[in-house]
Amino acid sequence: MNVCEYKPGLEGIPAARSRISYVDGQQGLLEYRGIRIEELAAQSSFLETAYLLIWGQLPSKAELENFETEVRYHRRIKYRIRDMMKCFPESGHPMDALQASAAALGLFYSRRALDNPEYIREAVVRILAKIPTMVAAFQLMRQGNDPVQPRDDLDYSSNFLYMLTEREPDPFAAQVFDVCLTLHAEHTMNASTFSAMVTASTLTDPYAVMASAVGTLAGPLHGGANEEVIGMLDEIGSVDNVRPFVEDAIANKRKIMGFGHRVYKVKDPRATILQELAEQLFQKNGSDHYYSIAVELEKVVEEKLGYKGIYANVDFYSGLVYRYLGIPTDLFTPIFAIARVAGWLAHWKEQLTVNRIFRPTQEYVGEHGHSYVPIEKR
Ligand code: ACO
Repeated sequence: MNVCEYKPGLEGIPAARSRISYVDGQQGLLEYRGIRIEELAAQSSFLETAYLLIWGQLPSKAELENFETEVRYHRRIKYRIRDMMKCFPESGHPMDALQASAAALGLFYSRRALDNPEYIREAVVRILAKIPTMVAAFQLMRQGNDPVQPRDDLDYSSNFLYMLTEREPDPFAAQVFDVCLTLHAEHTMNASTFSAMVTASTLTDPYAVMASAVGTLAGPLHGGANEEVIGMLDEIGSVDNVRPFVEDAIANKRKIMGFGHRVYKVKDPRATILQELAEQLFQKNGSDHYYSIAVELEKVVEEKLGYKGIYANVDFYSGLVYRYLGIPTDLFTPIFAIARVAGWLAHWKEQLTVNRIFRPTQEYVGEHGHSYVPIEKR
């Protein structure tokens, strides 16, 4: 057996062969199943993109209609799940609530038939349908309100925004939100996807796979940067403060949130798309003070750090859009999860076709040959 060099964080070590998505960080290219993200953002919907990621090809008109209908039909959550969520502390983080609720789905749909395509489809539909309902339900319940039932006449994104705010959203805002979901749906191998795949490789149920991935996404090194962008823009406060803020951050080696990426060394293509959408949204519905600060910040960061390959990433503009839509900051990461469920499900399904349980090794660097010392002699 080859002995490989130990790499902390498994950096650069392939953990799978995948056909789901592709990133070229030098050219700023992202493809889902070979289709560029720009085309999907402009022409597809989140649910169609989820279908593409999970089943490997674009659906026909009838296939898409059936899929949308199935997802619509499964949006409700059982009253026992709602009752369980009512007992969650209102001060708890919505990502923790989501992780617990996703795991609880396994209690209700425990039949495990991973070699049955019907079971796989049912699980995919249930998870895509119920995760947004659970995020919205926790938001209303932590404010002391009853959750609202999903509306069958609304599409996926409009329904989520409706369940969150109890108001029917502006159609353009819902469309922009849907594109945000498409942009976050998948991004090759990363911590939460790997976590999903490790859990999937034990052949446990898909709800445990999702709960595991949600827990991994919750960490500040992974899903939380878009929340931090808003805090940073608050701290900057005005366009005039941008340059001194950047100079101070660089002098003190402080990271500027929403910039830089392990893979992209040019502007993240998702940030470019989101910026255009954010501009259209602000033009249509009124300008946003944060956006003026953000544009100046991007200009100054490019000027000062562009030579290191540090440019805006997807989180820079997504936080701005969510904030503008009135979404509370601590829901940004759960919304990331709503989108990324599509990618996790795609990797779960792919993993099952070539499954081998993940069982890496370790380099033992401890000691040998000690004797047990009775407690009274230590
Ligand atoms: N602001 C200022 N300097 C930066 C930034 C930044 N946002 N990102 C990287 N740098 C600098 C580092 O200080 C370092 O400089 P040095 O070589 O002079 O010491 C150099 O660029 C390399 O930085 P690393 O942290 O080693 O780069 P890495 O590829 O590991 O980091 C990361 C990528 C973690 C995303 C980093 O850029 C970062 O922390 N950005 C801010 C947080 C953020 O926006 N995260 C969201 C990423 S997108 C996503 O997860 C969906």
